[in-house]
Amino acid sequence: MMWKILVAYYSKTGNTKAMAELIGEGARRLGVEVVVKDVRELKAEELLNYDGIILGSPTYYGTMAADVKRLIDESVRFHGKLDGKVGGAFSSSANIGGGNETTVMDIIKAMLIHGMVVQGTPKGDHYGPVSVGKPDERSRKLCLEYGERVAKLVKKMTHAA
Ligand SMILES: Cc1cc2nc3c(=O)[nH]c(=O)nc-3n(C[C@H](O)[C@H](O)[C@H](O)COP(=O)(O)O)c2cc1C
Repeated sequence: MMWKILVAYYSKTGNTKAMAELIGEGARRLGVEVVVKDVRELKAEELLNYDGIILGSPTYYGTMAADVKRLIDESVRFHGKLDGKVGGAFSSSANIGGGNETTVMDIIKAMLIHGMVVQGTPKGDHYGPVSVGKPDERSRKLCLEYGERVAKLVKKMTHAA
């Protein structure tokens, strides 16, 4: 069985993109197929092709950027079809208290509405990796680990199904 994970992101100045690449690298360590893609190059229907979907956005006014929201809103066309897939989220902000966690939670809320299953993290960034500006050593490590954790869950979820 070949598991497929999508890491989709929007990034204007490269911080969120760097996180996406690290998360993808972490997931690949588990031997899954990973596609890392800019949301602007992604058709919403493509989400159906993956076992796991990890979405990342810079924090814009405490929530996701419009391009990420657009992808989510377009997914209403196949509402119900992502049920049971694995989800995950990450965000980059300029400030420590700048809303990166609310951004992650907004993405996760949409994923839960789709019926997706989300892996939390007891040690580190609990809701999904965050970065303040360019990912530092701490954030890079957590991104790699998050990719691994989500890939592990994807494998578990599809094993018995
Ligand atoms: C329109 C806009 C709104 C932003 N709002 C916030 C915010 O609410 N909190 C914050 O900490 N940073 C905010 N930022 C800063 C970005 O989240 C931050 O620079 C981020 O690292 C950019 O990610 P990127 O390099 O992937 O584009 C904002 C930036 C822009 C352009």
